[in-house]
Amino acid sequence: MRKKLKVTILISGNGSNMLALINDMMEKDHPAEPILVISDRPDAKGLKLAKSKNIKTAIVNYKKCSGQQEFEETLKKSISLSGAEIICLAGFMRILSPNFVNAFKNQILNIHPSILPLFKGLNSHARALSSGMAVHGATVHLVSEELDNGKILGQGIVKIFEGDTETILAKRVLKLEHKLYPRVLRNFSEKISEKIVLFDS
Ligand code: GRF
Repeated sequence: MRKKLKVTILISGNGSNMLALINDMMEKDHPAEPILVISDRPDAKGLKLAKSKNIKTAIVNYKKCSGQQEFEETLKKSISLSGAEIICLAGFMRILSPNFVNAFKNQILNIHPSILPLFKGLNSHARALSSGMAVHGATVHLVSEELDNGKILGQGIVKIFEGDTETILAKRVLKLEHKLYPRVLRNFSEKISEKIVLFDS
């Protein structure tokens, strides 16, 4: 059997994307395996979920660090010790410095809830609604020095319906994220460069 690539997942909250990635990696034929889940918040719900799947967890508590530098140094150590070859940001709500990103160049993936390059940063659902878009979605991309700007690896597209609220739209997008991120991680692990495109059905 060929060696699986080691994946560390970084979370800050619910961890539903993390769970989708872990569940997919549990498949025998998957080219990668989850070895560690790290949260920057001790109260992240995703930590319990990861434990329930028997995945090792760690907390690098941002609030207990003296600042971004100490936080990133601790994070770096934890990731390096885990032996991770791929790092998946899954609802990880901290911006990483160029220094950190370059330490793991082309190894960090992120999922952002918009069709990038539209609506980078926060509140993407509200901004998609207020701009009158007919479609919205999510993007998995490589993390680069600039926020939400790395190479696009896959995108999921949903329709926006009359009367949609931010909550309704976020739910529709999240459901598709759970299909998109695992598909992209598989391709990325297999070094398949074709971009994944999914449409909400
Ligand atoms: C997702 O919408 C993701 O795109 C964004 O934050 C949300 C995280 O949700 N980065 P979860 O923690 O994976 O449930």
